[in-house]
Amino acid sequence: MSDGIIYVPRDSGALSMGAETVAAALDAEAKRRGLALLIKRNGSRGLYWLEPMVEVETARGRVAYGPVAVADIASLFDSNFLEGGEHRLGLGITEEIPYLKNQERLTFARVGVNDPVSIEDYVAHRGYRGLASALAMSGPRIVEEVALSGLRGRGGAAFPAGIKWRTALQAEGDQKYVVCNADEGDSGTFSDRMIMEGDPFVLIEGMTIAAIAVGATQGYIYLRSEYPHALNTLRAAIAVAERKNYLGDDVCGSGKAFKIALRVGAGAYICGEETAMLESIEGKRGMVRFKPPLPAVAGLFGKPTVINNVITLASVPVILEKGGLFYKNYGMGRSQGTLPIQLAGNVKYPGLIEKAFGVTLREIIYEYGGGTASGRPVRAVQVGGPLGAYLPESKLDLPVDYEAIAAQGGLLGHGGIVVFDDTVDMARQARYAMEFCALESCGKCTPCRIGSTRGMEVVDQIMASGGADKMAAADLLRDLCDTMAAGSLCALGGLTPLPVTSALRDFREDFGLPAAIKP
Ligand SMILES: Cc1cc2nc3c(=O)[nH]c(=O)nc-3n(C[C@H](O)[C@H](O)[C@H](O)COP(=O)(O)O)c2cc1C
Ligand code: SF4
Repeated sequence: MSDGIIYVPRDSGALSMGAETVAAALDAEAKRRGLALLIKRNGSRGLYWLEPMVEVETARGRVAYGPVAVADIASLFDSNFLEGGEHRLGLGITEEIPYLKNQERLTFARVGVNDPVSIEDYVAHRGYRGLASALAMSGPRIVEEVALSGLRGRGGAAFPAGIKWRTALQAEGDQKYVVCNADEGDSGTFSDRMIMEGDPFVLIEGMTIAAIAVGATQGYIYLRSEYPHALNTLRAAIAVAERKNYLGDDVCGSGKAFKIALRVGAGAYICGEETAMLESIEGKRGMVRFKPPLPAVAGLFGKPTVINNVITLASVPVILEKGGLFYKNYGMGRSQGTLPIQLAGNVKYPGLIEKAFGVTLREIIYEYGGGTASGRPVRAVQVGGPLGAYLPESKLDLPVDYEAIAAQGGLLGHGGIVVFDDTVDMARQARYAMEFCALESCGKCTPCRIGSTRGMEVVDQIMASGGADKMAAADLLRDLCDTMAAGSLCALGGLTPLPVTSALRDFREDFGLPAAIKP
């Protein structure tokens, strides 16, 4: 019998703020007071400015305190926090904190709630119900349910998952694969990591459903090397799933086999591009492949392969559990379901906010994010990672919707929003976009390999010149962007022009260009 149950997150964000020391100090203080505490390690709720956020189990539900430092621990015990007592770090009932309460958590329903590596916890919180439904269906029927849900790829391209699965299902092959793209290279994004660290079984379940649907027997998770905690958590969860027969030669006694292996990247952004990722898994240098053939027809080792992002796959269990229609009823237009939005940069309350599509950028940045951390006005936001456009404050009423953002020359991508205040220099940001492309280009095609370096030089030329020369250099930069967009083989070279041209269009003054010039 314990005197109390406490949750201390083991998510990287919380660990970076001292969660491990806080857990040890809580344990030591409890022992000093002769209390038998059960300290459980959970994922993060995604309220990152409050980490380490410690929760205690009370009769009223879980009560949160944060951000907790070692120096606060004695006073927390003195305040009877084990029964939810009042303390200056008290945040009330966790589920009632507005930041959390106003979300629509479908994919992230268990993150921060569960012990990530306890399969019993997972099953007790509705885990593996999606797989149970899937195992009672035929492959084509599962694919139709996913198609009905409207789920689109959350890795960036927003391609409908159902169509991709159908192609892999119909492709001929003695061996098929499911590959999970966990490279998560976009700036300001961390939802994949949070799932892998906070609820790895939901990803494993999603991959298993994909495999059963298309007839694959082997899966791979391609994980970025910068995620050591996710790697450990996934390793532990895969081992448990194998032991409990959720993975292996006879998944849940169905007679169907599915296994998952982990592959760790070496730190190249391009290895997140799906065909470069396949090359990397095959042990080769990460270079982009020509398409066709599509990976769904001839992918890993030339075999039909479903490639999906972590969030895409982790959204599948709830779709199979509750039905495609249930999921489709969230969202707007062709953006159906929910999106785990990652809010970062110069913002007061950074974190993970899962909302149905349709919420506006302004609501996310002000109502959730509380505006800038610096207290200065928001000037620009970059949505969709390093290849996303910079949107000015005047465009913040745009809804989080693939089509609405694309119509404004932007990109929703993996759902990352990075906020900048009015001290940002957009000419430097434009130069940085080109520099990033030059650093990360795989080198296969000329517009990207050479154009990105020339792009940096031309931004420098704009900044160093005046009058007609400045105008000519700005024209040259636009021409170069057109060439890169039209002539690059993949979206690294093809989309780098987005942040550059958006800066030239909406922040002309930072280049010293007259307002009358319409880039
Ligand atoms: C340069 C580049 C980097 C990419 N990086 C990632 C990544 O880190 N994670 C990811 O899921 N998709 C990434 N993608 C998109 C993938 O190529 C692919 O569309 C995605 O993995 C498919 O899964 P989805 O349909 O579930 O989104 C990247 C694409 C490009 C062009
Ligand atoms: S656009 Fe860049 S990253 Fe993509 S294939 Fe061409 S050189 Fe490689």
